[in-house]
Amino acid sequence: MVNVQVTVLSGAGISAESGVPTFRDVETGLWAKVDPYEISSSDGWQRHPEKVWAWYLWRHYMMKAVQPNDGHRAIAAWEDHAEVHVVTQNVDDLHERGGSSRVYHLHGSLFEFRCDRCDLPYDGPLPAMPEPVEVVEPPTCVCGGLIRPNVVWFGEGLPADAWDRSVDAVRNADVAIVVGTSAVVYPAAGLPELALSSGIPVIEINPEETALSASATLSLRAKAASTLPTLLQRLPALLG
Ligand code: OAD
Repeated sequence: MVNVQVTVLSGAGISAESGVPTFRDVETGLWAKVDPYEISSSDGWQRHPEKVWAWYLWRHYMMKAVQPNDGHRAIAAWEDHAEVHVVTQNVDDLHERGGSSRVYHLHGSLFEFRCDRCDLPYDGPLPAMPEPVEVVEPPTCVCGGLIRPNVVWFGEGLPADAWDRSVDAVRNADVAIVVGTSAVVYPAAGLPELALSSGIPVIEINPEETALSASATLSLRAKAASTLPTLLQRLPALLG
């Protein structure tokens, strides 16, 4: 496998076995509990920043309390055998904490903050949140703007640098592994399509059928943490 490039495209499902809820699970998913357009859009932020801030602050602290699972760790361990790039829609840091060195966050990070007016990064104090609450006033910037999470909300563009690196990582891949995403949110969902149209094999790992399953080169109905640790050795056999 020397000189092979593996590009992983991950979504919320890879962190599910770390105890992080996904978005679209009908019972436990985040979008089953809150209105995505109220809590995750710039309109919602303008209307009630204190509600949006409280929700993201809760998720920030929740992510600090969970650990990478065998899936994150396996992808990092592949770096001993291949050049591995991780393109993730996740705003957690579990790939990095699992040991991956090339991670591109298409939807931003729960661990970065910036001013909603002047874009100045913020690394000042955050209010403690021992338990989830519905309303917390966001800190203010020196310019008078409000501090917001550095995540991508509905209707906002993706960070250009992460997007460019992700496209390159897909174009240069020998194989793309798509794990734990419902593959419905664009432009991220266009990356497996880019791989397929470039003749790059795409292997999907997901316990459920998704929008990608029918077109993937191989679609494994399986969970990330139990499948990824042995996947790299099995690739030659799986791809024939
Ligand atoms: P979704 O919640 O849409 O999909 C999670 C996927 O993970 C589903 O297809 C599950 O079947 C699968 N899954 C669950 N447990 C799994 C496991 N143990 N192993 C492997 N797969 C598992 O999450 P995303 O596709 O990541 O965007 O959602 C994409 C974007 O939609 C998010 O980044 C977020 C959301 O709106 C923004 O906030 C901008």
